Amino acid sequence: MCGIVGAIAERNITAILLEGLKRLEYRGYDSAGVAVYTNTDGVQRRRRVGKVSELEAALASDPLVGQLGIAHTRWATHGAPTERNAHPHFSSDTVAVVHNGIIENHEVLRERLKGMGYAFASDTDTEVIAHLLHHHLKTLPDLVDALKATVKELHGAYGLAAIHQAQPDRLVAARSGSPLVIGLGLGENFLASDQLALRQVTDRFMYLEEGDIAQITREKVSIWNSDGQPVQRESVQYHEGAEAADKGEFRHFMLKEIHEQPRVVQRTLEGRLGQEQVLVQAFGPQAAELFAKVRNVQIVACGTSYHAGMVARYWLESLAGIPCQVEVASEFRYRRVVVQPDTLFVSISQSGETADTLAALRNAKELGFLGSLAICNVGISSLVRESDLTLLTQAGPEIGVASTKAFTTQLVALMLLTLSLGQVKGTLEAGVEAELVEELRRLPTRLGEALAMDGTVEKVAQLFAEKHHTLFLGRGAQFPVAMEGALKLKEISYIHAEAYPAGELKHGPLALVDKDMPVVTVAPNNELLEKLKSNLQEVRARGGELIVFADAQAEFRDGPGTHVVAMPHIVDALAPILYTIPLQLLSYYVAVLKGTDVDQPRNLAKSVTVE
Ligand code: G6P
Repeated sequence: MCGIVGAIAERNITAILLEGLKRLEYRGYDSAGVAVYTNTDGVQRRRRVGKVSELEAALASDPLVGQLGIAHTRWATHGAPTERNAHPHFSSDTVAVVHNGIIENHEVLRERLKGMGYAFASDTDTEVIAHLLHHHLKTLPDLVDALKATVKELHGAYGLAAIHQAQPDRLVAARSGSPLVIGLGLGENFLASDQLALRQVTDRFMYLEEGDIAQITREKVSIWNSDGQPVQRESVQYHEGAEAADKGEFRHFMLKEIHEQPRVVQRTLEGRLGQEQVLVQAFGPQAAELFAKVRNVQIVACGTSYHAGMVARYWLESLAGIPCQVEVASEFRYRRVVVQPDTLFVSISQSGETADTLAALRNAKELGFLGSLAICNVGISSLVRESDLTLLTQAGPEIGVASTKAFTTQLVALMLLTLSLGQVKGTLEAGVEAELVEELRRLPTRLGEALAMDGTVEKVAQLFAEKHHTLFLGRGAQFPVAMEGALKLKEISYIHAEAYPAGELKHGPLALVDKDMPVVTVAPNNELLEKLKSNLQEVRARGGELIVFADAQAEFRDGPGTHVVAMPHIVDALAPILYTIPLQLLSYYVAVLKGTDVDQPRNLAKSVTVE
């Protein structure tokens, strides 16, 4: 989604802004722009449709030099991805604004501003902010005062930054529903929507909170809260994850992140496993007391995180005997929900900033849940701040838009949750927890073995290069794994992929099966195996080509039209984590064969901070 970078320094800041935008590229965008205060010509901008490299080329041939500037990568919501709709937006050539989020009352504001004589140069909701700010500057000449008056009139979500030609010693910013972080330097300060953008200039950060307004000069950061009171926000030093913005030996971030899984799964387990038990306090000091009261679980998430939640449902019900419902956040937030007594609300999110998931959590607080738990990869995210309990996944920054290591670490966290709830409530069968704790310790090694199948999966990928449709099948907890496999393939290779519980095959999708529609199946050696084998016969009988990822002990044989990839043996409960790996590799290699943009697939964003 959209990205913001801002800087005020003694040195020329254009290169810093461009580098920041490049570091945000992974979030997905369709145009980019920069506005710089120049000593000779006041505020000037360059904007380009397409990659940041286009903007960089434009700046190389027509440079902007200055010590104050703001920059943006845009992911179109209001108005097509064109140069005139790219940010920064201007008012009267003196005020420049960049904005993430959506201004819901932009039409009303636009009409009002038009009535005051403002002419609009774009179709965006953002441009109203620039004109409104300009309008308030007429009576409130101080930029931060004018910004305070402006945001009072905005409905919706925003993280925004602005500069004004008449006050070139400052940058102002406001946050409501869309994250912003200030990067602290010596005699220079920065702003961004994600601290990754600023890691090349500082490791000290100050996170704005909901409703905050900030004024940033070279020497000082001043912040006011939503009541207009001056506040101090804590500054934090960030050491970890400096390696994230670098692909290392890998061709794509996605492949790098797939290969990081043994290590990040290990990190997610660290400090959370006792000898034979999960350490419940990993969820926070009040976790044991809260968990003891839990009688139901409601999981809410989006995208890949939703699939993790679906796997957890099988685990919570089969291992811990706790009823569980799972729903996509965009549905949950807009329907009337009946909450069973003593239900724990669990949100799952890589970023912790997904607009629908956050809104669902906020709604949940009004609905009488027992408490809220966030399973999240970003410790400083809104979701974490607003939940009662947190379990952080330790995947490190995930750059590829298609989520990989975030998903497997979420699954690990959800297994820890299942065992913790079962332990506290005494609902686990004897020996189960000790066995699974032992198996979890071995999981990183098993994942390494699955990754060693890289070359085999690469060959299998060739079967898909010319295909337009695919079907993914799984049964039980492998059904959501099949869903995640299908999502990966469609996200990055643009091949239509559907997932079905294998038992539903003959209720519809079988009609589609022919030699041009490969069928991918995940088949661990569990009690549903024989039923799955019958389902696959139904595919073969219709000439469908089968790709089966199967436990080496499951006695699947290669044959005409059947390609079997033998998987390392694993205890059934952890199979969803292991079987995710070959499906990730499959979609990766298909996308490479098709030549698509693996790390930044078209039309998608890493972090969906608007509805
Ligand atoms: C976007 C991303 C997905 C992600 C989903 C939910 O659609 O492209 O990879 O699964 O958002 O994001 P979250 O950060 O809440 O897990």
